[in-house]
Amino acid sequence: MPEPIPITSLWLTCQRPARDQRRGRYVPETSTHPGKMLPDCAAHAIASYTAPGDLVLDPMVGAGTTLVEAIHLGRHALGVDIEPRFTALAEANVALARSQGATGTAKVITGDATALLDLAPASAVGKVELVLTSPPYGRHAHGLVRTTTTGVSKRAHAYGDRQRGNLAYAGWSGLLDGFTAILAASYQMLRPGGTVIITCRPVRRRPDDFIDLPGEFLAVAQQVGLIPVQRAAAMLAAVRDGQIVHRASMFAMMAVRKSREDGIPVHLVAHEDVLVLRRDVVSPAGTAP
Ligand SMILES: C[S@@+](CC[C@H](N)C(=O)[O-])C[C@H]1O[C@@H](n2cnc3c(N)ncnc32)[C@H](O)[C@@H]1O
Repeated sequence: MPEPIPITSLWLTCQRPARDQRRGRYVPETSTHPGKMLPDCAAHAIASYTAPGDLVLDPMVGAGTTLVEAIHLGRHALGVDIEPRFTALAEANVALARSQGATGTAKVITGDATALLDLAPASAVGKVELVLTSPPYGRHAHGLVRTTTTGVSKRAHAYGDRQRGNLAYAGWSGLLDGFTAILAASYQMLRPGGTVIITCRPVRRRPDDFIDLPGEFLAVAQQVGLIPVQRAAAMLAAVRDGQIVHRASMFAMMAVRKSREDGIPVHLVAHEDVLVLRRDVVSPAGTAP
């Protein structure tokens, strides 16, 4: 396991609630995707690490947040997802963005991104300036909460059928193996010097079982030759007058309360880890690319 890199930057990506970030900019069915990136987080990453006209790739595109924010910023974008219903959603969101004046173009492909190099247009290989993505963590880690008269239930927490290849159902080691394959292919898609940004969170599977997914993802990214350049915290809470204004769901608050009653001192999660890595300008073998 490589040395952890400290968090060196804070992204204020939740000054507006998530629903305000998406309202009118995304089709209403977007709420059916269980694990979306905050639009302000995607926009911040794209604006900071690319220029207009650059190509942005999300190999696990979900509802298409990366694509929508990229084309609104005048970048071009390519997205892949294994679930046809999510690629249809991403296409609907891209169409809405284009109808609202987004000047970039986006292509959406349905397929297993572990075979990314077979799916992507050959003309895009080695041309991507930024890979921006967030892997799935399984059904327990995502979802919307609905309050009912009988209590609280989760909806939209599943990624679809237990289709072979969907990393949400692959178990932790399957997720890491699949993500390693996707990152290795993404490395080939990048231009030399291009950037990879991964957003993710640690997962608490049972109250006493804490999985350091950001640390694991950082390790596999380095295995495929990417060089860590920064670790940031993308806020899932607002910051006002130096105070954190949390936006946690009732479900998350109940889980924290229950853990504390059981003597486990957990806190509400207020940020997502952002790993920023780069493809070297010289290939690992030392030859100029
Ligand atoms: C956390 S979500 C990404 C959300 C996306 N960033 C957004 O903002 O909507 C992860 C996505 O990875 C997709 N996925 C899982 N396994 C995959 C695979 N092998 N190839 C491509 N996509 C995959 C899931 O269907 C899911 O939509």
